[in-house]
Amino acid sequence: MKGLILSGGKGSRLYPITYTNAKQLVPVANKPVLFRVIEAIRDAGITDIGVVIGDTGPQIREAVGDGSRWGVQITYIQQEAPLGLAHAVKISRDFLGDERFVMFLGDNVIEGGISPLIRQFADSDWNCQIVLTEVDEPQHYGVAELDEEGRIVRLEEKPRQPRSNLALVGIYMFDHHVFEAVEAIQPSWRGELEITDAIQWLIDAGYRVYPYIHRGWWIDTGKPIDMLEANNRVLEELTPHIEGVVSPDSEVKGRVIIEKGAEIIDSVIRGPAIIGEETKVVNAYIGPYTSIYHHCHIERCEIEHCIVLEHSRIVDVPHRIEDSLIGRNVEITRSRVKPRAYKMTLGDNSKVGLL
Ligand code: DAU
Repeated sequence: MKGLILSGGKGSRLYPITYTNAKQLVPVANKPVLFRVIEAIRDAGITDIGVVIGDTGPQIREAVGDGSRWGVQITYIQQEAPLGLAHAVKISRDFLGDERFVMFLGDNVIEGGISPLIRQFADSDWNCQIVLTEVDEPQHYGVAELDEEGRIVRLEEKPRQPRSNLALVGIYMFDHHVFEAVEAIQPSWRGELEITDAIQWLIDAGYRVYPYIHRGWWIDTGKPIDMLEANNRVLEELTPHIEGVVSPDSEVKGRVIIEKGAEIIDSVIRGPAIIGEETKVVNAYIGPYTSIYHHCHIERCEIEHCIVLEHSRIVDVPHRIEDSLIGRNVEITRSRVKPRAYKMTLGDNSKVGLL
């Protein structure tokens, strides 16, 4: 089997974090979501992986390279615009050939990997398998309606009135018949060739399409709140270890990872939390569910339930920072010179809540 990862698109719901960066490269527990997807596919025994890229292709190529770091071989497939998930399949035909494949959306994080799924599909004569899971707000996803025997009756993309609470998870398995489907369907109201419509076409044409119900957690990291939620879940599963330096006057409690070259000085770290490589935490409190990425400087402040990206500096902030997604190279400090005013350089669509 081959793997196909979709890593194009624009990521507008994660603005401003994704103005200049691919949303699939935003880290969850200090590892980009896309790297987690590659590892899940590799762990299922698939080493030939195509990655569909769009405008942010150069960054993705730079971050992922040829895949040798994971023992896989990566082929990049350029999509001229985000014209839909089925369009991405269409342009990947040369790479996929006639092989069965798993398609994994590059912004999805799932509990427990995909090995059982891949095994089930690889050994079957099914034409397609989809993954479904129960969600609270199905209107934001592709939604499946099943009959009493658990067979798929109908699929709808982001319906206003969902017929069930079973959402399509961004993991799909196909054989080559999907190419007939993606050629046959028309763009949806949002102008995209929808994979949901392609699968419905396969069902209507009498092909064997089966559901797999996923019982663990699954997060589509579309919005900042979803990133934080994914971060919480992954942090809870990490094995704690300390590779950096913790000064004797510091306190590290619970499930905490201190990465290589990090320094914790006169500070309290309460897990689950992760402190990235070469990051310095001085006289500060890092609370549960926080990921601080590499080369940051955190001093005289309190941070809890946050993701802080690389090379950021947070120093002398008088109130606790909570529930925040803080981008790369960000500086949050207190001015010592008069007039003591808030001075900010914020990207478009930034959100700041002041006391
Ligand atoms: O996450 C699950 C949902 O993903 C499913 O429930 C929906 O049925 C499915 O349509 C999809 O919905 P989204 O609206 O969340 O898809 P999004 O536009 O966020 O794209 C998902 C990934 O695919 C993302 O990593 C970007 C990439 N992509 C997207 C498009 C539209 C491409 O590579 N090319 C594209 O043309």
